[in-house]
Amino acid sequence: MTNLACLLLAETSNLDEHKISSIFHPLSTPAQNEFNYALLVIAICGGIFVVVATLLIFTMIRFRRKPDGGHPYEPPQVYGSNRIEAAWTVLPVLIVFVLAGVTARVVWGIGDASQPKSTLHVEVTGHQYWWEVRYPNDGVVTANEIHIPVSHDRDHASFFDLKSSDVIHSLWIPELGGKTDLIPGRANHMWMDPKEAGVYWGNCTEFCGAQHANMLVQVVAQEPADFERWLTEQRQPHVSDPQALAGEKKFQMFACGGCHAVQGTKFKGRLGPDLTHVMSRRLIGSGVLPNTADNRKAWISNPQDAKPGCLMPGMKLSGKNLDDLNAFMETLK
Ligand code: CUA
Repeated sequence: MTNLACLLLAETSNLDEHKISSIFHPLSTPAQNEFNYALLVIAICGGIFVVVATLLIFTMIRFRRKPDGGHPYEPPQVYGSNRIEAAWTVLPVLIVFVLAGVTARVVWGIGDASQPKSTLHVEVTGHQYWWEVRYPNDGVVTANEIHIPVSHDRDHASFFDLKSSDVIHSLWIPELGGKTDLIPGRANHMWMDPKEAGVYWGNCTEFCGAQHANMLVQVVAQEPADFERWLTEQRQPHVSDPQALAGEKKFQMFACGGCHAVQGTKFKGRLGPDLTHVMSRRLIGSGVLPNTADNRKAWISNPQDAKPGCLMPGMKLSGKNLDDLNAFMETLK
C-alpha cells in the first residue's frame, strides 16, 4: 500500500532522491530486529504448515476409498493416549511461549525510551494532516521532514517522543522502524539509527480523517557534519527582507500568522506548520506537492484543491496578493 503510494508520488513529483519504501531493506536496528522477528515467525508458522499439510495429504491418500469400491483401510483406533495428548499440548505451549518472549523483547527494545546521554531528541506531533517536528534542545521547529544524523548503534541513535494534538495517528518509516501510534494525552517512543544517508519515505498508518492517505513524512538521514549544518541553518530566526515587506504585511493582513509561526517575527501561530524555513523543504502540504513557486501559490490560494478536507481554509487569493505572499515565502530560507 505504502509502496504504491510512493510509486505514484515518484511519478508525479520526479524526486530523484526518492527511494521506494520497503520492509525488506531494513536500514536501522529497530527495523532490522522487526525484520528478523518476522522471518522467525514465518519460519515457525511455515514449519507448522508443512507438518500439518504433509500429514493431511498423507492421510487423504493412504486412507482414501479403494477404486474397486472396497472399504477403505481403517486405521487403528486410539483412545486416551497420554503421550499424544501431552505432545500436542506441550508443543504448542512451547511455541507460544517462544513467540511471546521474542515479541516482548523486540517491542520493548523498540519502545525503550531510556536515552543515552547527548543523543538527539526529537518531538514528533501528529496533526490532521501533517507532522510537527521539534528539536527541543536546539530550538528548532520544522514540519513533515525529520532530519536525523546517520548513526550505527543505539548509543548514537535519534530518539523520538511521539504525541498527537487531535486524533490517533501512526508513524511508519518502513526502512527505519515499525509503526508506532501517536496518541492524544500520552507520549510513545521510538528510536532510529539509520545506517545510510538518504531520504526515507513514511506515511501515517492510522486512519485519522479525510486526508489520512496524504499525511506523508520524510526522514532525511544525513552524515553528522551535514546534519549539524542543517541544524545551525534551521536555528536562525527570520530577518525581514525589505524587498518582501508587502508580502509580510499581507501575511498579517490575511491572518496567516494566526496559524503559522515565523521565528524572529510576531507570527506565533501553532495550528499549522512553522514556516520559518519553509524554503528548505522539498515538499509542501505534507508531501502532496513539490515546493515550487506555482505550487506554493496554488496552495495558498486554495489548499482544498490539492488536499480536500485539510484544515487550512482556502483564501481565494489571486494576482498581486499571491505574488506578494509568495515573495515573502521565498525569504523564509
Ligand atoms: Cu494521520 Cu492518518
